[in-house]
Amino acid sequence: MLTSPEAARFILVTHAHLFKPTYPKCKEQLIGPSALFYQQGDYHTRLRKFVQRSLSLKTIRNLVSDIETIAISALESLSGGHIVNTYKEMKKFSFNIGIFTIFGRLDAKYAEELKENYSILKKGYNSFPSIQAGTPYNNAVLARKRLSQTLSEIMCQRKERRLEEKDLLGRLMNATDENGDILTEDQISDNIIGVFFAAQDTTASVLTWIVKYLHDDPTLLEAVKDEQEAIYERNDRGSKPLTWAQTRDMPFTYKVIQESLRMASIISFLFREAVADVEYQGYHIPKGWKVLPLFRSIHHNPDLFADPENFNPSRFEVAPKPNTFLPFGNGVHACPGNELAKLEMFILVHHLVTKFRWEVVESHSGIECDPFPIPQHGLPARFWKE
Ligand code: HEM
Repeated sequence: MLTSPEAARFILVTHAHLFKPTYPKCKEQLIGPSALFYQQGDYHTRLRKFVQRSLSLKTIRNLVSDIETIAISALESLSGGHIVNTYKEMKKFSFNIGIFTIFGRLDAKYAEELKENYSILKKGYNSFPSIQAGTPYNNAVLARKRLSQTLSEIMCQRKERRLEEKDLLGRLMNATDENGDILTEDQISDNIIGVFFAAQDTTASVLTWIVKYLHDDPTLLEAVKDEQEAIYERNDRGSKPLTWAQTRDMPFTYKVIQESLRMASIISFLFREAVADVEYQGYHIPKGWKVLPLFRSIHHNPDLFADPENFNPSRFEVAPKPNTFLPFGNGVHACPGNELAKLEMFILVHHLVTKFRWEVVESHSGIECDPFPIPQHGLPARFWKE
């Protein structure tokens, strides 16, 4: 386990070729072995280009109004004064954004099938990998097969209608290499499920933490509200939609998002494996050993972030030193979805603080892992329209 910014850079950037990403086989099978984050080398580079394009600033700037519609509908459905599990609600939101980013507008029947089977897959993902009938793992294996079937039907329809969409699925279906070879259906499915996996729980856990941090500190909430209400007023009290330029000009909210990413460090570390014997600062790392850069330790190191347990967005008035702020990783595998994740947060926070109030039902400091750290019991809370 390595806890210094220099070591994180060594593993993820300057000597990335010596460390491959590794996950247990049973987990890899559930997501799909051809998914981007298990890969290295040429296949990784080629595939990453297509994934990156469909998540680039140029692409996602056109998604603002659709994300806004999904955010408003998510907030309307959780408000009403009844107790909800905030994390579960945020997962519904980030899943719907995932569907939209990957497929554009998708037939409700397919969206429902994907939602149902993906949720079974998730339940089995961290369970004991037994293929006995009825175990959560085996249910997940079967759900994974059904997911492939649904994805295959969607691809077949697109081919029949000769649709050349610019969403992630479209880009993967049209991807060719220098020999004109295209990706197989399995490679495409693995990457679609991979993106769901990378995008849903991560974004939802950070959003849940943001809801908690804002709730726990009324002064912080007021400051975010002031910034967001100024935009709301300029948009004729919300009757005009948010613009891309507005989402890029929320400086205080941005610092709150950065500080939430640091405090919660929801990806606490990454898994790598040495592909050769490696020497690092007098230490010998034998080939085959697991190597874990610990982001949480870096983000909570008082030498790098003063008074690290204190939620203090103003620390981001000065850019963090290189390799000290790594919520989205670094190097060849760094998160290609980071701008989309932040856009989702800006838009959701805008509507949350300008139109809603909320009260956390169990406000204690417990944390549970699902597998990312989230407030205990998913932060049960009541939301209502102001
Ligand atoms: C707050 C939300 C998110 C966080 C904290 C996060 C964090 C990360 C981190 C740390 C990595 C690097 C993994 C490694 O090096 O092994 C990563 C990779 C990845 N992320 Fe994200 N992510 C988030 C949201 C998203 C979203 C919204 C998407 C897509 C829509 C996405 C897609 C991916 C993909 C495809 C990879 C694999 C990249 C590769 O291996 O080349 N992530 N993410």
